[in-house]
Amino acid sequence: MNWNINLPLRPKNIEEMLGQSQFAQNLIYYESTASTNTLANKLAEEGAPEGTLVLTEYQTAGKGRKGRRWLSQRYLNLLFSILLRPSLPPNQMFSLTMILALAAMDGINESSGLQTWIKWPNDLYVGHKKLGGILTEISIKGKKVDYVVLGLGLNVNWNPGKGQDLLYPSTSILAETGIVSPREHLLIGIVKLFEEYYLDILRGEIEDYHRRWNQYSMIIGRSVEIISDQETVRGTVLLIDREGALIIRDEEGKEQKVFSGDLSVVLEGKDEGAGYGQAS
Ligand code: BTN
Repeated sequence: MNWNINLPLRPKNIEEMLGQSQFAQNLIYYESTASTNTLANKLAEEGAPEGTLVLTEYQTAGKGRKGRRWLSQRYLNLLFSILLRPSLPPNQMFSLTMILALAAMDGINESSGLQTWIKWPNDLYVGHKKLGGILTEISIKGKKVDYVVLGLGLNVNWNPGKGQDLLYPSTSILAETGIVSPREHLLIGIVKLFEEYYLDILRGEIEDYHRRWNQYSMIIGRSVEIISDQETVRGTVLLIDREGALIIRDEEGKEQKVFSGDLSVVLEGKDEGAGYGQAS
């Protein structure tokens, strides 16, 4: 099969390979755009259907969580956003981030054999290094979810060499495996898996995914520090619950629920480095 290594993605080919998938029905591809999440939000406001898939080679204003930037060189990585209009309550939105993380983890493993781990709430890691990140943006009208945009940035064939001004330790599939990955193949695998998982979640079949995102969370049982706008919490991670909250046992032995924040794994009082990857 001609997988077009490190050349521009071919949207027609991707559509064909996705076949009957709902993510092949409104595929938007630009060589460059400000941010696939920004574009997907705009399209959603204009009435774009569920399943819209926005894909680019290069973002001039790629967004990470908490106002950070997401940097990625042309033709080397994957940058895409998925627009969903799920009939799920707002408190189940975290499951969508988690199934995209699981789909990416499984897709990477199937295509390259690389085992990745999920770092709550939205990162993919290999060891201490960030491989990818998810940015989830939710629009709520009244008490209902109007739409959700899930954006994934994944370092695929990028070479994280010296002299690159990165805030945090980052890696790529190439750096971990020594093998160049065909990006179209990887993308199609991730999107197909995501669709399968999404249909299960819509049917209320969350148990297996909940179990797996705990199983592959690199922080279960670890001592962590979570810094949010409101407070800093330290403790040992017990579990991530179905709504995405981190259940930790704090230093006084009490259980606490933490809904969001920046997380560091603490090793003998030393920060192991949380980081938001290739963001700067
Ligand atoms: C994070 O780690 O903070 C999340 C990073 C998310 C980056 C992806 S790249 C595709 C999509 N478009 C964006 O502007 N951001 C997400």
